[in-house]
Amino acid sequence: MRFTIKNIYSAFLPIPSLSLNLSSSRFPLTTFVTHSLIDKMNTSAKNTETTPYEATQYNALAPKYQNIKRIPATYVETANVRAATAPFIHNARVLDLACGTGYYSRKLLEWGASSVVGVDVSEGMIDVASSSSSSSLTLTPQQVSDGSGKLKFQVGDARTLGVIEGGNFDLISAVWLLNYATNLSELTKMFSNISKNLKSGGGGGGGVFVGLTTRPVPRAEMVPHKVLNDNIRVKKAETWGMDVRYCDLDDNDNRKLDGGLKGWRVEISTETKFGKEDGVAFTTFHLPMEDYETAAREGGMKGKLEWLEVKLEGEERKEAERDAGEQYFREYFGGLGPHFGILVIERGD
Ligand SMILES: C[S@@+](CC[C@H](N)C(=O)[O-])C[C@H]1O[C@@H](n2cnc3c(N)ncnc32)[C@H](O)[C@@H]1O
Repeated sequence: MRFTIKNIYSAFLPIPSLSLNLSSSRFPLTTFVTHSLIDKMNTSAKNTETTPYEATQYNALAPKYQNIKRIPATYVETANVRAATAPFIHNARVLDLACGTGYYSRKLLEWGASSVVGVDVSEGMIDVASSSSSSSLTLTPQQVSDGSGKLKFQVGDARTLGVIEGGNFDLISAVWLLNYATNLSELTKMFSNISKNLKSGGGGGGGVFVGLTTRPVPRAEMVPHKVLNDNIRVKKAETWGMDVRYCDLDDNDNRKLDGGLKGWRVEISTETKFGKEDGVAFTTFHLPMEDYETAAREGGMKGKLEWLEVKLEGEERKEAERDAGEQYFREYFGGLGPHFGILVIERGD
């Protein structure tokens, strides 16, 4: 089954035109809905801090979230998370923060981790992660929930997590976590919990953080004007689309977020060929690189800090092009460029 997406541009997903093969096993159509999950929808986690956004916004969209991984940009995302974690993954004890439905928790095991603990603030996402993982990794739900299958999921807030499972992780991954911090203080709390859970040690002997977040820009003013205005507001997808809206802009296209940071609150909604009811909508935050770097240092991350170049090459590119077409990736890299950045930071002493 094939369908087409046209005229979709966004800061998060610069997708000019694409053709997506939904019968591909890479993008399974199945989503998982459990009764306990339905019961939990629209409820708030009681142990999380009050924030300007709803910390558990993902409860309601958990059953549909995996649809988002069907877009071709996922090839770029996955290849770059794989490459960024590759030097550290062999036999690593991994903590996967903001694990969502466990897409990367399962990948990290496949890529060589000895065990993975997935943590997410949303109970709904954790429910889906547990049920999806038991079927896709041939584990029983019991093995997933007690960790005896080397994969374990638990509810937790990265801002208040503390040390879990004895800490001392070799690697902490966080794909689309940091962009839920609404200000420097929340970002610093996330990094503080990250540094507490990583093995310490200089000279490459300590643990490493690999985070994927929104398109890196040095300062808030430097997000291209067209990203804010021309390309994101209007999306008209024939069958599958994404609307990315930068909110509350002032005359200079900036908005001061809480805590005095410059950056943007961003509302994202998707729809699929099944209609809007099959799509997901959520709010996230786009902060400049300097805030990530300041928060990492204040949060106790003392080692080497690096933003990686995002690319898609070799066999991974060929596989992606076979599915979504060469043109898609030419335009993806040739236009506004990748919609995300990858930050690698060593814990240090
Ligand atoms: C876009 S999803 C990404 C999920 C997964 N990493 C992936 O790439 O498929 C973002 C996830 O971050 C989680 N999240 C947001 N704020 C969080 C926090 N403070 N602590 C832990 N998880 C959080 C949400 O519940 C959601 O599951």
